[in-house]
Amino acid sequence: MNKHYSLQTKTLLTTLCALLLFTFGSKAQTTVDDPHYGIIPAPASITTGQGTFVFSQLTQIKADNVKDRNVLFLKDFLLNNRHFNNKLSKYNPKIKSSKGTTLIITSKGAATLPKEGYKLTITPRRITLVGKDAGLFYGIQSLMQLFPVETSGTEKLPCITIEDSPRFGYRGMMLDVSRHFFTVPQVKKVIELMAAYKLNNFHWHLVDGQGWRIEIKKYPKLTQVGGYRMQTMYGTNRDWPDSLSYGGYYTQDEIRDVVKFAAARYINVVPEIEMPAHSEAALRAYPELKCELPADSKVPAREVNNIYCPTPETFTFLENVLTEVMELFPSKYIHIGGDEANKEPWKASVFCQNLIKEKGLKDEHELQSYFIQTIEKFLNSKGRSIIGWDEILEGGLAPNATVMSWTGEEGGIAAARQKHNVIMTPQTTGNYFDHYQSGSPQEPVSFGRYAALDETYNYDPVSKELTPEEQKYVIGTQGNLWTEYVPTVAKLQYQIMPRLFALSEVAWSKPENKDYTNFSEVRLAKHFARLENLHYNYRVPTALTVIDTMVFGSKFTFAPKSVVPGAKIYITYNGRDPLDTDWEYSSPVTIIVPPNEKREFKTRVITPTGRRSIATRILMVNKGLMPSTDYSANKVGLTCKLIKSKFTTPDQLDYAAIAVKDSVVADKLSAEALKKDNPNFGMVFNGYISIPADGAYNFSQASYTDTEVQIDGEKITEAEPALPLAKGFHKIKVKYIYNVPAPIPGQYRIRQTPLRVFISAPGAVGKKEIDPATLFN
Ligand code: ACM
Repeated sequence: MNKHYSLQTKTLLTTLCALLLFTFGSKAQTTVDDPHYGIIPAPASITTGQGTFVFSQLTQIKADNVKDRNVLFLKDFLLNNRHFNNKLSKYNPKIKSSKGTTLIITSKGAATLPKEGYKLTITPRRITLVGKDAGLFYGIQSLMQLFPVETSGTEKLPCITIEDSPRFGYRGMMLDVSRHFFTVPQVKKVIELMAAYKLNNFHWHLVDGQGWRIEIKKYPKLTQVGGYRMQTMYGTNRDWPDSLSYGGYYTQDEIRDVVKFAAARYINVVPEIEMPAHSEAALRAYPELKCELPADSKVPAREVNNIYCPTPETFTFLENVLTEVMELFPSKYIHIGGDEANKEPWKASVFCQNLIKEKGLKDEHELQSYFIQTIEKFLNSKGRSIIGWDEILEGGLAPNATVMSWTGEEGGIAAARQKHNVIMTPQTTGNYFDHYQSGSPQEPVSFGRYAALDETYNYDPVSKELTPEEQKYVIGTQGNLWTEYVPTVAKLQYQIMPRLFALSEVAWSKPENKDYTNFSEVRLAKHFARLENLHYNYRVPTALTVIDTMVFGSKFTFAPKSVVPGAKIYITYNGRDPLDTDWEYSSPVTIIVPPNEKREFKTRVITPTGRRSIATRILMVNKGLMPSTDYSANKVGLTCKLIKSKFTTPDQLDYAAIAVKDSVVADKLSAEALKKDNPNFGMVFNGYISIPADGAYNFSQASYTDTEVQIDGEKITEAEPALPLAKGFHKIKVKYIYNVPAPIPGQYRIRQTPLRVFISAPGAVGKKEIDPATLFN
């Protein structure tokens, strides 16, 4: 092996480390090897005993109270899911068990258990479940999870002892039914899933700009007018608007039904009635609650239509609405929103400005605080407490408010320091289930960034920045599903699963019992099988953890695998995304790449019910390290040309002869400073980039249509983003174009993304913008 190839081997190892470990990882283990016995969320403690318990139709169930709702819940599962009609009788500890197998369900001994805790002991002839109320329910959920997914008439259960209780008292999931409406049966399916995974608060986002979804008898127009809109997709969706009426709402009877259904599963329903903003639907129905602005006001109608004016009429309206809400929801918490209020209408409103003076408030933030505190006082007087999004911190927190931290963790941290209870649901930590689940363009259209399963799983709601005393104010965590990009129930289920499984473990399990490898490669198997069985949709994990990558070397072996039981993996070598007409993967695949050639390996998982993963792609290139140049001048910065003209592609810069400024030195790769004075321009940067060590480097750009990057004359593309570079200096050329928006959208291709070029070092996770200190000319 010559030097060149040994370097390639090193490159391969540094870039492929995670992939190789995964592809050669052990086969999915049986639950016997799994310290959590397949249970999600991982229980607090499990000890393994000897033997197995065989649960059958003949197993006798003995309970303190044969009519207890938890006992009947289990009975229903056994009857409808297993076709077992087990004998049920009253438990009397003085009577010795008869022959055969027995399941005892009792609250005797439960007094010493932690809140919501249970103890489940399985021996070869007897199962004993100790717990009360929610604890008993969760014990039953764990017991049900120990049953095989497919019934065989006799169910073998491991002899183990589980002692379990939750880490947090508030374990939530939010569903937005305003942007898109979901029916009562669809909502109940979410609640059932929450219950199976020991979540206990369903936060129902019933009201937002795009639809008012709860019947209020006193204000029928809220649903008659505010419950409907004239297009299926709502405004900011990327789809074109259509001409269909879209909407729906829940009657008060339906709301009561959902609340009862949830309560039967120990789930509290927290209603959210948004205020003061996100209120277009209510204000469409009752426009008199908007701020009246002077005739010459420049505040956009969109903002005026979004926010209530803090008039006595508005407070009377909201108190009447909340009175009906409190009659429907026994929840101690009422969520009053409070997020993203653009206060321009309040700034322009004479009424608001007078109110600010009259109440001695400093500004509109304090006016929002006054608004929220007025509502809090009303709700507190009825024995309820408010939850608000973290913007309710602005202008001063209402005295008894619980803060739901969403913009990041900072709001929650600040509130805990003010001794307020906090529910952590940051959009930055994998708790926003409307985000994409991977960076692949094959994912269905979703919102903003991506939150992969491991990010959701690895989040710890208790920030290390808090002292132990402050940490006590973090009462729990929540996943949020906003539905701007969730028009169907299939999409709803796709977005929340499997992330809801991860959330449940964050909310319930002790950090020391969490283990992502065990969760994602072992335990999820049974839970995906359950979803298949129950015909839930979910995001099927890919067969390789790396979804899209480029690697360098001459020989590769792949052993893709799926955690979904019975799933098939289809593969291609021809660059096409695999279909079920392609080769089915059966044993490890070795691919030899001849020198200076490329090969492509793609996989896709298809489950027994036909659900598909997105396709993964690995591009293999057998190419030696690109040698460095002998540049030695060490002058920092890149030379840069600015060309003031309209371009529609970076390529056109190659033919633009006239540079307004030729070869000035730019200290960084940026065009921001030029945008103010130059409506249309192109830039060409030239110079050298210092590469710190031999290896395969990935490059990427904020845009591939506005920016072109070349390293040593090779163009970086989305399909081929990496190059094997020797340590030292390499030529870099970057072309960038920018245009002002055209007055008529669509008439001219607008190029307006920022100039940003990223690099990721061999083996690095994530990418970084190119460090200006590594650029020379
Ligand atoms: C939020 O995501 N606006 C609470």
